[in-house]
Amino acid sequence: MSMSQVGRHKASRKGIVLAGGSGSRLHPLTLGVSKQLLPVFDKPLIYYPIATLIMSGVREVLFITTPDDASAFKRLLGDGSQWGMDFNYAVQDKPRGLADAYRIGRAFLDGAPSVLILGDNIFFGHGLKSLLERAAGNSGATIFTSLVRDPTRFGVVELDSNQRPVSIEEKPEKPRSRWAATGLYFLDHKACDFADEVLPSKRGEIEIISILQRYLDDGNLNVETLHRGFAWLDAGTHESLHQAGEFVKTLQDRQGLLVSSPEELAFRHGLIDVDQLSALAESQKQSSYGEALMELVNQVHQYG
Ligand code: TTP
Repeated sequence: MSMSQVGRHKASRKGIVLAGGSGSRLHPLTLGVSKQLLPVFDKPLIYYPIATLIMSGVREVLFITTPDDASAFKRLLGDGSQWGMDFNYAVQDKPRGLADAYRIGRAFLDGAPSVLILGDNIFFGHGLKSLLERAAGNSGATIFTSLVRDPTRFGVVELDSNQRPVSIEEKPEKPRSRWAATGLYFLDHKACDFADEVLPSKRGEIEIISILQRYLDDGNLNVETLHRGFAWLDAGTHESLHQAGEFVKTLQDRQGLLVSSPEELAFRHGLIDVDQLSALAESQKQSSYGEALMELVNQVHQYG
């Protein structure tokens, strides 16, 4: 291996948020605005995957949006420097499938390993950060599975008795398990080459499952199971979007802590200091979200 290859393999992991799509299951809400900009209680849906990426140790992020929505995402998120991050944007002209993220993202990744997260996926739970950090340190690919009631709607992973993956299938008619692959994928630098080789499936999409199958064939697919105590929500339907909002509101009301606030996580990960956090709180102080950030600043001043 040459020195340059050694350097490439050590590149820090970069994030991709796939935030395009048609959002047809949320019509008419998504006729005028991207699904990922809709509210989940007090913050836009896209904040939740950003929080997951910050917890994974990612600093550089590529947002993939539809051409129509790109300007709204840029207005909301800017260049990321407000949160000590580096945000980049690319467009997907039509929803070609999840594997397209690795075709669009090739130049951005530039040989680095990645974390891909779907813009409508929310992860929450005690111990999540260490699970994510562990995945970030793995070689090959790492995916997360969660038990679901109706596996026919998901990518389904069959596990052996050692929790190693045996098969992975997209929306199978006869699922071999109830373990669904969630919308969070830690992949190494090979993902872009694998994506180039993916052919469209019967439903006309280039499927992420086809990339994962390559890792599985090579014996490089790791699976982490999200057990009880973890919440995995996707906010793709009216029902699930509403439930996600209720969930966040209930937790925040009870605990007086924010769920998946990028400002708070940026602060806790040392990306911004308390003065920067305070300025972010101040600029939003008319809302309960800004008030909650201000409360956090006060607690830091009081308790350190
Ligand atoms: P989906 O929920 O599968 O698709 P969608 O958002 O278009 O919604 P619907 O099924 O209601 O029409 O997508 C999951 C996530 O991935 C979502 O955040 C949108 C994103 N996505 C893209 O950005 N590009 C794509 O090509 C696809 C398929 C999805």
